[in-house]
Amino acid sequence: MARNHRRSLIFFFVLSLLALTFSPSLGSLGTEKKIKSAIFFSPKLVMNPGSVSNSYLFDIDFPRGHIGLKSFDAQVVDEAGKPVPLHETYLHHWIVEPYYVRKGSKLPQQEMFRNHGFQRQDPRSSLGSSSDIILVKNGGLCRGAVLRHYFGSGSETRKTSTYIPDPYAVEIDNPEERPEGYEFKWLLNIHAIDTRGAEDKTGCIECLCDLYNVTIDEYGRAIGPGYKGGLYCCYDKTQCRVKSGFDNGEKTRTLFLKYTVRWVDWDNTVLPAKIYILDVTDSWKKTEGSIGDGQEHHCHVEYEVKPCKTNGDGCIDVKKKSLMMPFNGYIVYSVAHQHAGGIGAALYRENGEGICTSIPKYGNGVEPGNEAGYIVGMSSCYPADPVKVDYGETFTLEVNYSNVVGHTGVMGLFYIVVSQQLPEPESSLPNLFQAPASSVSFLAFLAVTVVVAVVVLISAVIYRRQNREDGYQSLST
Ligand SMILES: *[C@@H]1O[C@H](CO)[C@@H](O)[C@H](O)[C@H]1NC(C)=O
Ligand SMILES: *[C@@H]1O[C@H](CO)[C@@H](O)[C@H](O)[C@H]1NC(C)=O
Repeated sequence: MARNHRRSLIFFFVLSLLALTFSPSLGSLGTEKKIKSAIFFSPKLVMNPGSVSNSYLFDIDFPRGHIGLKSFDAQVVDEAGKPVPLHETYLHHWIVEPYYVRKGSKLPQQEMFRNHGFQRQDPRSSLGSSSDIILVKNGGLCRGAVLRHYFGSGSETRKTSTYIPDPYAVEIDNPEERPEGYEFKWLLNIHAIDTRGAEDKTGCIECLCDLYNVTIDEYGRAIGPGYKGGLYCCYDKTQCRVKSGFDNGEKTRTLFLKYTVRWVDWDNTVLPAKIYILDVTDSWKKTEGSIGDGQEHHCHVEYEVKPCKTNGDGCIDVKKKSLMMPFNGYIVYSVAHQHAGGIGAALYRENGEGICTSIPKYGNGVEPGNEAGYIVGMSSCYPADPVKVDYGETFTLEVNYSNVVGHTGVMGLFYIVVSQQLPEPESSLPNLFQAPASSVSFLAFLAVTVVVAVVVLISAVIYRRQNREDGYQSLST
């Protein structure tokens, strides 16, 4: 009898806890919108040992309409949908970028981009509004078409959160901003390197020109002798050296980028946020009358880390860049992008105050998402109170790489998501609930603690009473 009672009490207790854990209203401001999610597959990538695919895929599948983008997550999978590990297919990067295309235009979109210098052959040209294609660029800071995408990532994609916190989202395809006669589309660029059977996997993923036997770039221009490796040497259809006899011609395989998009339908409860990308190789310098707009920024995207001369612990390459922020707003999310060898990146205010530190996570196994020696995730920052930024303020970007050995083609990018406004406190609610999100979650925690304490107390009282009535002797006494 007593045992049954005790069991039902424990049952009740566990149930209460479960109910609390899954209660959706705790820890949020209540204006939570229905977040939609869909999974898509890119057009196929055909890969062979040592091959490189750097494809620009136009008009990819994507949620349509006036929406607020919340996240974009991706990974490489095979024809069976099975995740492919980085030590077989290294995902150098993927980026997604929106654009408008004139309805009924005849040229294939690939050609339009080529004609307008979207790819590297003519970095000076830009897409004018009279063209058939208009790039929809992020907030900044880089010039031209470089680093103007919305979301982007590389090997770290499986374990990096891209989620933009509520109530913010990136506004997509506002009908009032869409030029007359144009449609909104998405471009996906995937750069993948097949390293099965490679003589030097690390060399292949760092795009060492020697391993690719490349002396001219994608557009036939000679590559300078000082350039040892990087994007200019591992372009589409180049081939990294593989062990002789490894590829008997039967190792061709078809892969896809599987991507998950989360979004909300747009309405006035969603606060628009903009994406900015800061590049540590940006050549920007403050000059008289700088306004910090795109024209002032030359972003080289990649750089080389030379091996250190001394042996031992101090072998860290620290690269810093100070950049003026050409906007007002609040940072609600940030994350860095680094390549293998990276050991962390940070963003600071002029006075040294830290804004975000993003640290790479390395794998230590063989399975997808945990590949030893590869960066499989970057930590991202979700400040409890959004970080206020004033126009003209200078931020310093600091990017660290281990230089025990040298690295070519590394990157040091920082993505920040900036909202122009903060949520309005809801005046109809009692004072207690007007607190910012951080104290709301504290309140929620407090509430849970109190309820749990009450449940425990009641249980204990009933239990003792029960014991007394039955004369039941607890085993522990
Ligand atoms: C490298 O390229 C040169 C010139 O294009 C070619 O003659 C040579 O056979 C190539 N070497 C290898 C190993 O592919
Ligand atoms: C980068 O390295 C320097 C020197 O060791 C260190 O002071 C700094 O905290 C590091 N920064 C990050 C973001 O890891």
